[in-house]
Amino acid sequence: MLISIRDLINEGVKKLETAKIASPLLDVQLLLCHVLEVDKVFLYCHMNDTIDLQKAEEFNKLLEKRYKGCPLQYITNKQEFMGLDFYVDENVLIPRPDTEILVEKILEIMKGENFIKKRSINIADIGSGSGAIGLSLAKYETRCKVHSVDISENALKITTRNSENLEVKQRVKLYKGDMLSPLLNKELEKSFDIIVSNPPYIPSDEIDSLQIEVSKYEPRLALDGGLDGLEYYREIITASPKLLAKNGVLAFEIGWNQGEDLKKLLKETGEYKNVEVIKDLANLDRVVIAVLNPD
Ligand SMILES: C[S@@+](CC[C@H](N)C(=O)[O-])C[C@H]1O[C@@H](n2cnc3c(N)ncnc32)[C@H](O)[C@@H]1O
Repeated sequence: MLISIRDLINEGVKKLETAKIASPLLDVQLLLCHVLEVDKVFLYCHMNDTIDLQKAEEFNKLLEKRYKGCPLQYITNKQEFMGLDFYVDENVLIPRPDTEILVEKILEIMKGENFIKKRSINIADIGSGSGAIGLSLAKYETRCKVHSVDISENALKITTRNSENLEVKQRVKLYKGDMLSPLLNKELEKSFDIIVSNPPYIPSDEIDSLQIEVSKYEPRLALDGGLDGLEYYREIITASPKLLAKNGVLAFEIGWNQGEDLKKLLKETGEYKNVEVIKDLANLDRVVIAVLNPD
């Protein structure tokens, strides 16, 4: 039996509503667009069209995944970030709109007086995942040379894939390893203009209480920031002075309530100046910027 797009959408919405999915109509529309390889305008214009059985079955399979809590982005393998299309799957965190605040701040810094005359800007992106941060910087600022580090081989494969899709591969170098350790060598000493990271920052015992899309489907390796969520910030803050050039910038995404902790950690070392916490649109802590103290 053939089924119309309208009926397929209505049935899909009912199913997702019973699973208390936050945006059932939008999710159903996007799943159907993905299966039919069309955009939403097409759906609106062809509500009474019927679709073939094979496509309907494919749609129902994907709907079932969404019903069980799998994030839409892992089903369609897409997430837009900074206006760019990123491939994503279960090996990487889905890039968040909040992280755009960090990228925009770095783009602004690179237009500032300490950077404007530089012909080349060396950036380390620690915990690159999909590559959202480093690759967007490379795409929007062609002076950037990005060194992307991740401990996950599978995440690095996705960074590579996205660097090819975004045509910035030639300016991106990949390192597999633990935080800054793959960069700590004589050649790279004091060579980075910017070190940026959105490290795992959720306290270990809070992960299971997050929404199912995150706790069950996103990689724990991308979430777990240790007992107090600050483990990786401590490591990066301690090791960065060896790698940052004069006036080098350290930039982090942080959790909504971690601003004061980060200020304290940075100040305690005596290695940084101009520590600034930037809030998101909900007025919550989101980004911390600090500059290496030359003294
Ligand atoms: C919160 S995700 C951020 C991903 C991406 N940068 C973004 O902003 O969407 C953290 C990333 O750090 C990586 N990671 C976890 N532990 C690490 C470690 N010890 N060394 C390097 N990378 C690590 C994870 O694999 C994950 O890709």
